[in-house]
Amino acid sequence: MMPSRVTLVDVGPRDGLQNEPQPVATADKIALVQRLVDAGLREVEVTSFVSPKWVPQMADNAVVMAGIRRVPGVRYSVLTPNMKGLEAALPTRPDEIVVFGAATEAFSQRNINCSIAESIERFAPVVAAARAAGIKVRAAVSCALGCPYQGDVSADEVEHVVRLLKQIGVQHCGIADTIGVGTPHRAQAAIERALKHFALDEVSGHFHDTYGQALANIYACLQMGLHTFDASVAGLGGCPYAKGATGNVATEDVVFMLDGLGIETGIHLDRLVDAAEFISDRLGRAPVSRVGRALLARRGKALLT
Ligand code: HMG
Ligand code: MG
Repeated sequence: MMPSRVTLVDVGPRDGLQNEPQPVATADKIALVQRLVDAGLREVEVTSFVSPKWVPQMADNAVVMAGIRRVPGVRYSVLTPNMKGLEAALPTRPDEIVVFGAATEAFSQRNINCSIAESIERFAPVVAAARAAGIKVRAAVSCALGCPYQGDVSADEVEHVVRLLKQIGVQHCGIADTIGVGTPHRAQAAIERALKHFALDEVSGHFHDTYGQALANIYACLQMGLHTFDASVAGLGGCPYAKGATGNVATEDVVFMLDGLGIETGIHLDRLVDAAEFISDRLGRAPVSRVGRALLARRGKALLT
């Protein structure tokens, strides 16, 4: 069942940088996207069109989108939680938009200020308009393996949202462990539910590494044949509405594991480490990635802590 090739979506510029307490220069965001593409990433989540009152870090969304040099064959995606977000995003020509729901009512309220049912009502016209404009639509299901407010989350709760997303025309479903509490069998159970409604090609795993379980979860999903995962360069990130959540699994760590398994990604690890070094230097700290740190140390770099 193990795939021979895996697609990694780098969500660092969005999921990572949305969580930085200090402002990150727009030019640095643009340069990071470029470096990721240079390293071989073919899917990059660039920014989000959300309320700047909620997430000021993404307020330069349109400027970032306008500043990146588009490389053919690369899919540049953005988050759009409602029609206002989509309307702002459309002129920036995203290749894909992402609506983001949650498996729990509590997280839905805290993150997007509405219930699960209301979120689906809001997403429906966004999905329809994006598809009418020829833009691919992905969805994320947050808190699929645990919720900072509710606690445990059942596979039934995950499937409930997955089913609704499918019904409104979402084309791809990402199962997200927002707070990184999931373990391999729980990850498999949630993915299994997504696979009841979406094809294998249209399901992905989005694992935060808060409890150090992300690589194990990815490996467990690989055993099911899953071949699309989100990851974040240098392990950047967290979620402003999930206290204590650390970044997604670091892209370098996933690439190192996949290289070792003989699974193709098209990503050049050394160039990816260059991208990690670039953004880490700009943020004034070392990458969280174990592989990134090891490879930078081998280059003789004195790491900041
Ligand atoms: P709301 O306050 O309920 O929205 O927020 P509203 O429709 O009542 O509007 C209130 C104000 O916001 C109005 O402005 C709107 O114009 C403005 P005012 O009249 O007061 O000046 N507004 C917007 N401005 C810019 N862009 C928009 C937009 N929409 C309304 N799109 C809303 C609802 C969804 C907008 C808000 O809750 C929000 O922005 N939430 C974003 C939360 C967020 O970005 N979270 C992080 C991303 S999700 C994530 O990280 C999880 C993920 O990685 C997967 C995982 O790990 O779980 C994807
Ligand atoms: Mg996330």
